[in-house]
Amino acid sequence: MSSLITQEKNVVRQEVLRQLKNADQKTLQNKSVVICEKFFRLEELRNSEVIAGFFPTATEVNILPVLQKILQKKCILLLPRVEGENLSFYRINTLTQKDLEIGEFKMKQPKKNTRKHVLNNIGIVLVPGSAFDRYGNRLGRGLGYYDRFLQTLPQHTVTIGVCFETQVRQHIPHEQFDIPVQKVVTEDHIYF
Ligand SMILES: Nc1ncnc2c1ncn2[C@@H]1O[C@H](COP(=O)(O)OP(=O)(O)OP(=O)(O)O)[C@@H](O)[C@H]1O
Ligand SMILES: [Mg+2]
Repeated sequence: MSSLITQEKNVVRQEVLRQLKNADQKTLQNKSVVICEKFFRLEELRNSEVIAGFFPTATEVNILPVLQKILQKKCILLLPRVEGENLSFYRINTLTQKDLEIGEFKMKQPKKNTRKHVLNNIGIVLVPGSAFDRYGNRLGRGLGYYDRFLQTLPQHTVTIGVCFETQVRQHIPHEQFDIPVQKVVTEDHIYF
């Protein structure tokens, strides 16, 4: 039997996902452009040399322009790869199939022959999520991958949630193992 809080989390996840699937694609794409522009102006992003991102799925904010810009600036771009129960971060040089493959859960991830990266010098982590609240509490896909990863990061790494404003909820139910992010960037606000 799943706990009450697990059920509450599932309700919010399903609700947000339903909204996103019914949303107009063009509108979401326009919002993604606004979010990317916010990132281009973000001081932490401009000052970081090692950035961990994520390859967006169809219902996530399209941050590909941000990832492209990081590569153009000759910064180090890391993307997550599912390895068993955990996420490992690998350095990639292109966003093409030269460095990427379809991995677990049908998500794009770095090929194994790209370079695995240590976690102690990452400046920023861009964190996907199904929903966030304004205090950085986060709901993912319900498997705990990001929670397990975020707990291993050193204090100095800045964690930034990325989502559309419609994914920001008044209150996100959370448990001891849920790790909040430090900021949340949407098309309307930067919460921190
Ligand atoms: N630090 C941890 N160590 C071990 N198990 C964990 C940890 N964090 C989460 N889990 C496990 O993962 C399950 C799912 O967690 P949760 O519902 O918070 O997922 P989520 O935050 O939505 O997913 P994700 O982090 O992958 O985006 C939990 O029920 C718990 O058993
Ligand atoms: Mg969690």
